Amino acid sequence: RISYYNGEYVNHDEMKVKSGDRAFYFGDGVYEVVRIYDGRFFTLDEHADRLMRSAEEVMIKGLEREEIIEILHEIKERNGITDGALYIQVSRGIAPRDHGFPDGSKPVIYASIRSSKRPEQQMESGVRAVTTEDYRWLKCHVKSLNLLANVMEKQHAVENGAKETIMHRDGVVTEGSSTNVFMVKNGILFTHPADNLILNGITRLEVLKLAEENDIPFREEGFTVSDMSEADEVFYTSTTQEITPVINIDGRKVGDGSVGGTTRRLQSFFNKKIT
Ligand code: PDD
Repeated sequence: RISYYNGEYVNHDEMKVKSGDRAFYFGDGVYEVVRIYDGRFFTLDEHADRLMRSAEEVMIKGLEREEIIEILHEIKERNGITDGALYIQVSRGIAPRDHGFPDGSKPVIYASIRSSKRPEQQMESGVRAVTTEDYRWLKCHVKSLNLLANVMEKQHAVENGAKETIMHRDGVVTEGSSTNVFMVKNGILFTHPADNLILNGITRLEVLKLAEENDIPFREEGFTVSDMSEADEVFYTSTTQEITPVINIDGRKVGDGSVGGTTRRLQSFFNKKIT
């Protein structure tokens, strides 16, 4: 397996990370996960744009979009993987540990790939989720490397026999630990607006586009945990989890406890997009 780090393509298992990499000390950087289906990138431009925007938001300078695209293509080709996920991160640079931005450091790019299959079983049967307070910072629209809160939130699901943790701020559902959350109530699709409290997922945007194209009414509007407990359907989305139905939240059935019709329709429209 060939990965890329700090200007070089290297054997993944032998890759050496620089000790001064600010990703290592501070999680000082941004990242993306891009899916490849059948040898082709899915929504590559959207991911590249978001990476550039995240970098800009945290004032990482000197990142070139063309370079990102080139590295992603090169990693895909060199590894000959046709179905999988590419991970790319950009740290602020290499420098002795000091909180303030270092002078004159260049961003450090790391990229790797792994083959993966679509999560067929969970998309078919649905999963359990739990809810908890969203205790992250207030720049959740940045795809930051700093995922400590997300990691803790996800572990909460793992320890409670669930697949994902759905977070809320003062009762208003924001998103999952690594996914965007939707509910369907009386035929209307709801999801949190794309502000600073969520990551504006590329899959989220695809789902909204599919809803638009297929006359499924939707509102980018906050809803509460209590609204969600009375929803007909709930699902979450991400690059790797696609459209995953949630059939049980905090031990209580969602709707009648089976995967809902609107979720199924969106899944089938999404299938057509990627195949
Ligand atoms: N996670 N919200 C959060 C907090 C995320 O980390 C992610 C993605 C999403 C969904 O975004 P998208 O549809 O663009 O993948 C929402 C990635 C996949 C990860 O960290 O592995």
